[in-house]
Amino acid sequence: MASLKDDVVAALGKVASPDGKPLPQTGTLSDIVETDGKVFFSVTVDAAAVQEWEAVRTRAEASVRAVPGVKSVMVALTAERAGGAGATPPRRPQMPPGGGAGGGPARASGGGPPSPAGIPGVGAIIAVASGKGGVGKSTTAVNLALGLRDLGLKVGILDADIYGPSMPKLLAIREKPQTIGGNRLKPIERHGMPVMSIGFLIDEETPMIWRGPMVMSALTQMLREVEWGILDVMVVDMPPGTGDAQLTMAQQVPLKGAVIVSTPQDLALIDARRGIAMFRRVNVPVLGIVENMSTFVCPHCGKSSDIFGHGGARHEAERLGVPFLGEVPLDIGIREKSDAGAPVVATAPDSPHAQIYRDIAARVRDGLQGEGRPAPKIVIEA
Ligand SMILES: Nc1ncnc2c1ncn2[C@@H]1O[C@H](COP(=O)(O)OP(=O)(O)OP(=O)(O)O)[C@@H](O)[C@H]1O
Ligand SMILES: [Mg+2]
Repeated sequence: MASLKDDVVAALGKVASPDGKPLPQTGTLSDIVETDGKVFFSVTVDAAAVQEWEAVRTRAEASVRAVPGVKSVMVALTAERAGGAGATPPRRPQMPPGGGAGGGPARASGGGPPSPAGIPGVGAIIAVASGKGGVGKSTTAVNLALGLRDLGLKVGILDADIYGPSMPKLLAIREKPQTIGGNRLKPIERHGMPVMSIGFLIDEETPMIWRGPMVMSALTQMLREVEWGILDVMVVDMPPGTGDAQLTMAQQVPLKGAVIVSTPQDLALIDARRGIAMFRRVNVPVLGIVENMSTFVCPHCGKSSDIFGHGGARHEAERLGVPFLGEVPLDIGIREKSDAGAPVVATAPDSPHAQIYRDIAARVRDGLQGEGRPAPKIVIEA
């Protein structure tokens, strides 16, 4: 008996490319990933032909959706840049039209290249980033989002770490998103927040040997083809690093600001500096630095030790002229809760750690206000 994947390929055989060839014979298809009836694949085409291929993508999605046993389908259309002359230059983000009258000092204004459009209904999109991996970005992103929620804001979380998504684990999400009206995905709700991650669509074991452009496309779709609803703030958990991939990613998302996470030691700070430089290059205001894994308080003797040093990020923030948002201690409770999918702000709201994250959230919110950034809908509670 044919597998569901075979049925999908057969269905795609009835979809014609712009020059009339059956889609599977065009050499544009990636591997087809199928898990529990959720189908995902990409179509990689020349950048110049993207417009005509968009209709093919839509038809491919529709025909796969009609295959019995398919519960949802996501087809990413990926533009491969033609090498050399004629290649489209990377886009530089600017304020969405009409947004933030005050504008940021570093923000380009008027006459520049087009910026990524905002997401309808979403006020401010902020990135949580770091140059270095494993410094606690995802943990900070989740608890910051919860802190913003506790300030009365409507918050969503987008996991932009396509290669190593964290949200399924950090929020203990095992269910798959449902589709709405055929081609849009409904995010998963946790702690009153819509959450989207590529990890909801693809098994943890699936190797992510994806090429850069496909990653971009998956991110764009998670931003634009998901029913986010009305949000004051969307918190984006960025992948580690400050290479081209991250830069492009920062350019794909209409960011209102970035929060940089660093541990206190020099090596991490060098990477944090790179992160700040990266956002400045694309004119995204840096809302500030969080020092994570700061002082360690021994649960047995109560004595403080500065395992990775202490105060380095505050000092660096001062040096670079960006706000310092707060210090989160290195604490076993934070780790255990985080890794068990029960973030501290949601599950121990009265703990001192939850308060630290809420204070950080308040500074982030104030920073966004200062930038005149969030949509007017944002409510500040006295
Ligand atoms: N303040 C903290 N105290 C103790 N453990 C922490 C703290 N912050 C994060 N951790 C733990 O450190 C590990 C890495 O954290 P996390 O996944 O949030 O980092 P990351 O920067 O997102 O990593 P990656 O670069 O892989 O995306 C996790 O096990 C997390 O629970
Ligand atoms: Mg992470």
